[in-house]
Amino acid sequence: MSKYVVTGGSGFIGSNLVRDLLSEGDEVVVVDSMHTGSKSNLEGLDVPVFQMRADEFYEKEKPEWADVDGIFHLGKPSASPIYRADRGKVVEAVAGSVAVFEMAREAGAKVVAASTSSVYNGVPPPQAEDAAVAPTDFYTEPRLFEERLAAVYHSYYGVRWAEMRFFSVYGPREEGKKNLANLVTQALWCALSGKTFEIYGDGKQRRDFVYVGDVVRALELAMSSGSNGVYNVGTGTSRSLNEMVDLLEKVTGLELSVRYVPNPVKNYVAVTQASTEKAKKEIGFEAQVALEEGIRRIYDYYSKLMEAGWRPEVRWSIAFEPVSGVDPLARGPSGRGRATYGKAVTGLPSRQLPVSWSLC
Ligand SMILES: NC(=O)c1ccc[n+]([C@@H]2O[C@H](COP(=O)([O-])OP(=O)(O)OC[C@H]3O[C@@H](n4cnc5c(N)ncnc54)[C@H](O)[C@@H]3O)[C@@H](O)[C@H]2O)c1
Repeated sequence: MSKYVVTGGSGFIGSNLVRDLLSEGDEVVVVDSMHTGSKSNLEGLDVPVFQMRADEFYEKEKPEWADVDGIFHLGKPSASPIYRADRGKVVEAVAGSVAVFEMAREAGAKVVAASTSSVYNGVPPPQAEDAAVAPTDFYTEPRLFEERLAAVYHSYYGVRWAEMRFFSVYGPREEGKKNLANLVTQALWCALSGKTFEIYGDGKQRRDFVYVGDVVRALELAMSSGSNGVYNVGTGTSRSLNEMVDLLEKVTGLELSVRYVPNPVKNYVAVTQASTEKAKKEIGFEAQVALEEGIRRIYDYYSKLMEAGWRPEVRWSIAFEPVSGVDPLARGPSGRGRATYGKAVTGLPSRQLPVSWSLC
């Protein structure tokens, strides 16, 4: 049995991880600011939850972390629109990173942390960990910073580390993320509720969609591995949004209406597709759940939630601050039969976030 701190443990990926660690008999302490986390994600679990930021936890709760074996650091503001609306979140993310590595240094613990495939923006697929990357937005910058910080802590103090570049993660317990949930999940929610799914541009943008159960396994493998480094957590296969929608309809038998809208996102990522070699070789990780099977699993999960009275709380019309500059994806509709091509609704206050943030 090991003892772990999980920051962001009330969030989507974090709560799936916490459940798995507890089922293995590990001791877990959750730290979560509840910025986007949900208490319901940990319902029924006997686990201490510290409702505070990661940096506050470091300063105030030393008895809780002084003897940990590892820290899973997922607790940072988690989506690009959050940072665009409040650039101060960069400071919060960076403060959390430093605090986590200080805890690890003092406790002699390993850090396994969430980075992102968004660092690859502009890198042709398949995207490998040694590609030259440069941040293109406020969300990516603190993640790239944390990767470099990890290497510095390793070289000065021998802190063991892994930074996990998650690709496009979908799965159960995403309901708390609402309009920031993954596109596969949002498409399913639309299909289940008879709503229209909005796609930016022509739907030909590609994503490496990875099931959350695989992500949890990658995190645990990285924690137990003797290797330190940056690792991709993806399937190695990418699908266009149009292909994903077709597959979702085929697997569920549901019909999904799609509207294509001009892309409002600056520095939008056109394609993500992981190179999987390094993660396989160094930590023994390979994704096992294909998109077809993952869709089957979330269809089952969210259908049951709906039977129990849950309804997706996503705003179904889009609002955004228009950005200047080139929009490579803002073309027209693809060949999908039922598609309509509408103008985005702009009647809502301009600081509201986009429905589909679509960066990972
Ligand atoms: N879901 C994806 O597809 C994806 C892809 C790439 C990277 N990531 C990264 O993985 C991590 C987890 O993502 P998720 O999808 O589970 O999102 P999430 O929003 O459900 O989880 C993040 C959790 O961290 C908490 N949090 C935010 N700031 C905090 C702070 N300063 N201290 C402590 N807790 C804080 C939130 O309340 C939330 O519970 C995030 O860093 C995210 O950027 C996710």
